[in-house]
Amino acid sequence: MIIQKTENSRLSDFDPDNFSFGNTFIDHMVICEYENGKWGDVKLVPYGPIPFTPAMMGVNYGQACFEGMKAYKDKDGQVFLFRPEKNFERINKSAKRLAMPEVTEEMFLDGLKALVDIDRNWIPQGEGMSLYIRPLIFATEEALKARVANKYMFAIVATPAKSYYSEPVSVKISDHYSRAASGGVGSAKAAGNYAASFYPTQLAIEEGYEQIIWTDDSTHEYFEESGTMNVFVRINDTIYTPPTSEKILDGVTRDSFIQLAKKRGIEIKIEPVAVKTVIEAQKNGTLKEVWGVGTAVVTTIFQALGYQGEKLELPKLSDEESFAAILKKDLTDLQNNLSEDPFGWRVAVEKNVLETV
Ligand SMILES: Cc1ncc(COP(=O)(O)O)c(C=O)c1O
Repeated sequence: MIIQKTENSRLSDFDPDNFSFGNTFIDHMVICEYENGKWGDVKLVPYGPIPFTPAMMGVNYGQACFEGMKAYKDKDGQVFLFRPEKNFERINKSAKRLAMPEVTEEMFLDGLKALVDIDRNWIPQGEGMSLYIRPLIFATEEALKARVANKYMFAIVATPAKSYYSEPVSVKISDHYSRAASGGVGSAKAAGNYAASFYPTQLAIEEGYEQIIWTDDSTHEYFEESGTMNVFVRINDTIYTPPTSEKILDGVTRDSFIQLAKKRGIEIKIEPVAVKTVIEAQKNGTLKEVWGVGTAVVTTIFQALGYQGEKLELPKLSDEESFAAILKKDLTDLQNNLSEDPFGWRVAVEKNVLETV
């Protein structure tokens, strides 16, 4: 790895009690360029712009995919990644589907560890605090030709993240727009999936909702995801979540929730979730909770579901009653080294990892 440390650290200007998530970037980034059929050297360099022209293929044809993951600092200052191998596997699944070159485990994991280590002082400490990390791959070739590009960049950037508390939200069950289609790219974390979701989400916001529950593209009869999260439904004391498919992103938080629910002995069924079943359960009082899960806020609880002009309210459960809240605490305690890690999900980032990678 080629290392160029910054000579102008911005860390002294960073106020962990007052910063803007997503706009504040740590001092360094990882970059690696692909051309002539192979990846070059991984470089750890000062964070900053990269030169490109409007003819860059990534921005014209959308060959771009990314990951979202976090590093956590415990009360003793130890730093951990959470299941980083899952993000490594997923970025390559996305790259493959978009006909982009896969990255090596060394590039991805060593790059991550080196970046998090060198900028460990940027990681805010305390409940809900973390470093949000964004690995990405995009086509950099300068050519206006609708074909697979020959040049790419792999990069990792990161922004400090604050409390994952999120207010309960109202969500609209989509009966027209779809996030993904059979044979499409729904299970890839393709940049274009997000672009395609913004307009329907804007429409839902205009109708007074905060998010959309995406349903299947052919019948709109089955739940798929919610916003940029995987979705869970609790009817009586059983949790349901749709199975992953080529249309559903295989979320790391989803998988962790499933395993944590099983560990607690909570009944969880991975099976198609019909809109009709959820609506009926709401009407007969057996629908207890619906929530979304993802790395960014861990859990968002839904307070109402909008369906075909009707707003269906959900019960307000206390943190002791709510499976969503209980599992969220199990997960965040594990991520923050406040509990045992029977699954081996925490990966410590040793100090001075740069000397060894
Ligand atoms: C579309 C979509 N679904 C689900 C998720 C949740 O995945 P994870 O738990 O790996 O963050 C995300 C985001 O990160 C997402 O963008």
